[in-house]
Amino acid sequence: MSKETTRLYEICPRCEEAILKRVEVPYEVMVAGSPVRIPKVQVEECRACGFRSLSGKEVRLFEVLFAPQYAHVTDLVQALKSAGFFGMFMREHRSESCLGFGSREYVAGLADDLRDLYLDNESSHVIEGLDEGIETVPLEVAERRYTVKLPKIGEGENGIVYDYAESDRAVLKVAKPRAYSREHIRQECEITDFFASHGVPVPGIEAYDPYGSYVVKQRLAGESLAKLYTSLGPPESPRHRAAKEAVRSFVDSLLELFVRHPEAKTSVSPNNIFVIEDGERCECLLVDTGPAPFHDYSGFDFEDYWTVVIPKKIEQYRSVGYI
Ligand SMILES: Nc1ncnc2c1ncn2[C@@H]1O[C@H](COP(=O)(O)OP(=O)(O)OP(=O)(O)O)[C@@H](O)[C@H]1O
Ligand SMILES: [Mg+2]
Ligand SMILES: [Zn+2]
Repeated sequence: MSKETTRLYEICPRCEEAILKRVEVPYEVMVAGSPVRIPKVQVEECRACGFRSLSGKEVRLFEVLFAPQYAHVTDLVQALKSAGFFGMFMREHRSESCLGFGSREYVAGLADDLRDLYLDNESSHVIEGLDEGIETVPLEVAERRYTVKLPKIGEGENGIVYDYAESDRAVLKVAKPRAYSREHIRQECEITDFFASHGVPVPGIEAYDPYGSYVVKQRLAGESLAKLYTSLGPPESPRHRAAKEAVRSFVDSLLELFVRHPEAKTSVSPNNIFVIEDGERCECLLVDTGPAPFHDYSGFDFEDYWTVVIPKKIEQYRSVGYI
């Protein structure tokens, strides 16, 4: 089975509507002053909103080295080495024996266009490694060892979330291999305090990558609305009604907050709302504070959201394997 089969389909992280199309294109980066042509780089495109993102996840160093236009391979190797490419894209040369995220000083030293390719490639190695694991996989993150527990506990357009053995009070979220998703996670971390200070319960951030490749955050009690919804029973049941009314007032208060602070606008997708059921009372929490600047809530209708949007979203999440 190909590694890619589990990650064949992705929902557009920007509009959260369409499935991304993937195409491969050649791409040129500058290395130590000379252009290096990478024959195959993946591009993901959204036909619904126009989102387009380069992804370096398929890039391998040998493809760069043996690109046909380089007559003097030794010169190129020298240039790559002096540009700090040593070990890049070639995991067998890495000093760490286990899967993980490399030194952030090394990342800081890379030229901008290479940095994103490197980070894409790094995350896709980590995610593939975790996909292949059984039960637990040791992962090195910022000089710490996380024994990641499998399977994942959740997934969204931007990240995959795992439990790890060293703590049952925190989770590890790994960004999907694209700049948009890393930026999403970086901003999620930066804006978390804002929500907390405006009375919205959110998981605290324990540690995060300045490049947005991962974040360690508090583990929330309860269950995502995406997972809970189908078990709520008929619309007239007390349980269903309690959850619905709790989500209604939670979403109302969020939308009010977004009007006053548009920069804090997030997606109220059922993956992002957690519900703690406590008898007749239900509490809601915002599990993902990542920004969704392209969402338009001007015509938001809660009944439509509850009866049409949520079931549609759940079906879409299932079709791509998020839940
Ligand atoms: N702190 C947490 N505690 C428990 N479960 C979590 C936590 N964070 C995330 N999850 C699980 O992982 C799922 C996806 O997480 P999250 O929404 O943060 O990912 P995402 O890719 O950023 O989503 P989106 O595409 O909505 O931005 C959640 O719906 C939830 O099931
Ligand atoms: Mg989310
Ligand atoms: Zn889109």
